[in-house]
Amino acid sequence: MKQPDLSIRLGPLNLQNPVMTASGTFGYGPEYHRLYDVNLLGGIVTKSITLKPRPGNPAPRIYETPSGMLNSIGLQNVGVEAFVKTKLPFLRGLRGPKVIVSLAGESVSEYVALARRLDGEKGIDGFELNISCPNCEQGGMEFGVDPRGTARLVKAVAAATRRPLIVKLSPNVTDVVAIARAAAGAGAQILSLINTLVGLAVDPARWKPRIATVTGGLSGPAIRPVALRMVWQVHRALPKIPLIGIGGILTAADAVEFMLCGASAFQVGTANYVNPQAPVEILQGLRTYLTERKLVSAKKLVGGLKVPRVLRGIPKVVAG
Ligand code: SIN
Repeated sequence: MKQPDLSIRLGPLNLQNPVMTASGTFGYGPEYHRLYDVNLLGGIVTKSITLKPRPGNPAPRIYETPSGMLNSIGLQNVGVEAFVKTKLPFLRGLRGPKVIVSLAGESVSEYVALARRLDGEKGIDGFELNISCPNCEQGGMEFGVDPRGTARLVKAVAAATRRPLIVKLSPNVTDVVAIARAAAGAGAQILSLINTLVGLAVDPARWKPRIATVTGGLSGPAIRPVALRMVWQVHRALPKIPLIGIGGILTAADAVEFMLCGASAFQVGTANYVNPQAPVEILQGLRTYLTERKLVSAKKLVGGLKVPRVLRGIPKVVAG
């Protein structure tokens, strides 16, 4: 039988397959290229870049929790100038994956300056606006929990770049659809969701938080049902906007769940720490899943979830 077609259209981007790696879990690419050919991937999202280098938050800043992980890295990164000089050349040399640079800032003007600075650089296929980092005193999630703040930021960045714009949504909101609508209305061509859920872990022996900043962002399989619910909700409300699903994907079956809920592509994050080969294993698993079911294309999965026509008993905020 012919191999299934894994290519995916993500708004203005054509991906060779839907497997992407999530920002902050994949360095800038070369770290994993030592382990396998990252040209196999559909997309790579860099660690969030800021205008100036950031040392990040004090340690401890990672803690393993049941089926998950708390982090409070604090957007540690090399800053935009060092990124262009020392990290971008590797990414520019890749042949397969779309290269997405994640942008973060403390103010609208910082995000805009970053987008302007990187707009003319070769080797970048798009930006992912991080409006959902829960670990910074200023900026980050501040923009992503308020539809007006989201719209103001996205509009300003969209005007500063010709590159495709992905906006990464926070789950730490009561109405994710309102934020998604605001981002799409302001110029986001693609939405990715979800970033981490704010959490806290305690050491009962020392009566202290496990993370130096007290709270951190929870990721991993523990958050997958929340992420699936939000992807499904946003897809139902805004079926025309392409979505990238994120949240605890460890296997091809997990990835299929996201695609059935409406994601055209997905990002593998925390799994990279457990099994660095996870993205390529998921790619192979997805091929097998489609072949076994005689599905000719991965596109057939997108939004295929069979739900009862009458959604009795589902809270309005969820049912939309
Ligand atoms: C961090 O650097 O603290 C995590 C980034 C994020 O959650 O967006």
